Amino acid sequence: HMRNALNDLADTVTDPVQKQKFEKEMDNFFALFRRYLTDNAKGNTLDWDRIQPPKPEQVVHYDDIAQDVGSEFLSKLAVMKLNGGLGTSMGCVGPKSVIEVRDGKSFLDLSVRQIEHLNRQYNVDVPFILMNSFNTDSDTETIIRKYQGHKIDIMTFNQSRFPRIFKDTLLPVPKTFDDQLEAWYPPGHGDLFESLYNSGVLDKLISEGKEVLFVSNVDNLGAVVDLPILKHMLATDSEYIMELTDKTRADVKGGTIIDYDGDVRLLEIAQVPKEHVEEFKSIKKFKYFNTNNLWINLKAIKRVVESNELAMEIIPNFKSISVGNSDIPVLQLETAVGAAIRHFKGCHGVNVPRRRFLPVKTSSDLLLVKSDLYSLNAGCLEMDSSRFGSAPLIKLGGHYKKVSDFMKRIPHMPKIVELDHLTITGNVTLGKNVVLKGTVIIVCEEGKKIDIPNGSVLENVVITGSLSI
Ligand code: UTP
Repeated sequence: HMRNALNDLADTVTDPVQKQKFEKEMDNFFALFRRYLTDNAKGNTLDWDRIQPPKPEQVVHYDDIAQDVGSEFLSKLAVMKLNGGLGTSMGCVGPKSVIEVRDGKSFLDLSVRQIEHLNRQYNVDVPFILMNSFNTDSDTETIIRKYQGHKIDIMTFNQSRFPRIFKDTLLPVPKTFDDQLEAWYPPGHGDLFESLYNSGVLDKLISEGKEVLFVSNVDNLGAVVDLPILKHMLATDSEYIMELTDKTRADVKGGTIIDYDGDVRLLEIAQVPKEHVEEFKSIKKFKYFNTNNLWINLKAIKRVVESNELAMEIIPNFKSISVGNSDIPVLQLETAVGAAIRHFKGCHGVNVPRRRFLPVKTSSDLLLVKSDLYSLNAGCLEMDSSRFGSAPLIKLGGHYKKVSDFMKRIPHMPKIVELDHLTITGNVTLGKNVVLKGTVIIVCEEGKKIDIPNGSVLENVVITGSLSI
C-alpha cells in the first residue's frame, strides 16, 4: 500500500528533473519505512546483558591528545552545522539558528564569525556548510546573503523531505507533491549522510581535497574547530570521532557511548528497556554523553552510502497535525547522526572539556549565554575565569518559555557573575542593571506581577507574593 501511495505521489510531479529527485527521496523513505516495520516485527532491541561501558581505548581523554599542534591540517577540513530544526520548543516559528544571542548576532552569525576568524588567523579557506531543511532554507538564505564577499565559502544544501504517515493506517499524509508543509518532516540529522551525498556537496568537498567533516548542532556555540582533535583524527586514521563530555545529574538523558560485543555504539534512552532506565542514567556506569560534535571522514561517508551500509536505529516520533477541526495522530520516522558511529572504522570517543558543549535548549540557557558570564571573542563565548568553568543553575518558569516572552520580561540581562542559583516563576520582570548574587528565588503568585526595578542588587533572597519594589 505504501509503495502504491508513494508512486501516486510521484505521479503528481510534472517537472522531470524534480520528479527524479522526488522519486529518489521517496525510495529512501520507503527503505526507512520498511526497516521500521521489519525491526518492529522482529522486536529488534539491544540485548542489555551485552551492553558494557566503553573500554579505555574506546574513549580517549582530551588531555592525552598532543596539544602542540599547528594548523597544517586545516586544508583538509570542512565544517558543517546541523540547521534543519525549528525553534519550536522555544516558541519560535523560524529556524532556531536565527535566535539572537549577543550584540544583535544570531547562532548562525556567530558560527560564521568563528570560521571567518579561523580562516583569517591561519590564512586558510575552511568551507562552512549548512544542512538546512525545507523548514529552514529560505530564512537561512536571507541571513547568509549578507556574507557574500566575506572571507568565507558558505555552502548550503537541503536535507530530505519525507512524508508524515497516519498512525492508524500507516499511509502517507500528503496527497500531492506540493501538499501543505504540515504533511512533511525532516527526518532527523541522521539524514546527513544520504542528503550530503545526493546534494553533490560530498563529491565537491572530496574533489577539493577535503578529508574531514566537523559536524555540530547549530545551537552549540562551544563547538569550535579544535586543532588537536583534527590532528588526532588524521594521525589515528579514524573515520569517526564523537566528542563526549562528563555526564552530570542534569544531563542523564543524553545518549551515551557503549561497548557492544567489542564494537563502539551509541545508546539512546529510547532504546533502553524500562527496567534499566535508572542504570542508564547512572553517572557511575555510563560516565559520558554525546555532545553531537562529530568528526567524520568524507570518503568513508561516500563508502557507507554507496554500499547501503547505514542502518541507524529508527526513532519513531508521534505527533498530531490538524486536519479541518480535528487533531489527527501521525508518525514520523527519524534517525540520529550519532547512531551511525558503528559503521565507521576506528571510531571512538574523545572525552572533551565541558566548554565544548554550550547548547541553548531553553530560555534559561539563553539567559546564561546572553549574560555577563560570557564574553564574546571572535564568535566564541568565553566564560568569566572567576567561575572556573562552572555555570550557575538557572530555572525560569513557563512565563519565559517562549523567547519572545523571555525578552519581554527580561529585556536587559542581569549581571550574574556571582550567582549560584536563580529560580523565577510567574509574571516577573527585571529592570535594567539588575545584579543577582548567591541564591535568588522569585516566586510570583498566579495572576499577579512582580517588577524588579532598575539597578536592584539581590543577594541570597527569596521574594514571594506580588509586589512592586
Ligand atoms: P535536535 O532537535 O535533534 O536536538 O537538534 P535538540 O536541539 O537537542 O532537540 P530539542 O531542542 O530538545 O528539540 C539538534 C540539531 O540538529 C538539527 C537542529 O537544527 C539542531 O541544530 N536538526 C534536527 C537537523 O538539522 N535536522 C533534523 O531533522 C533535526
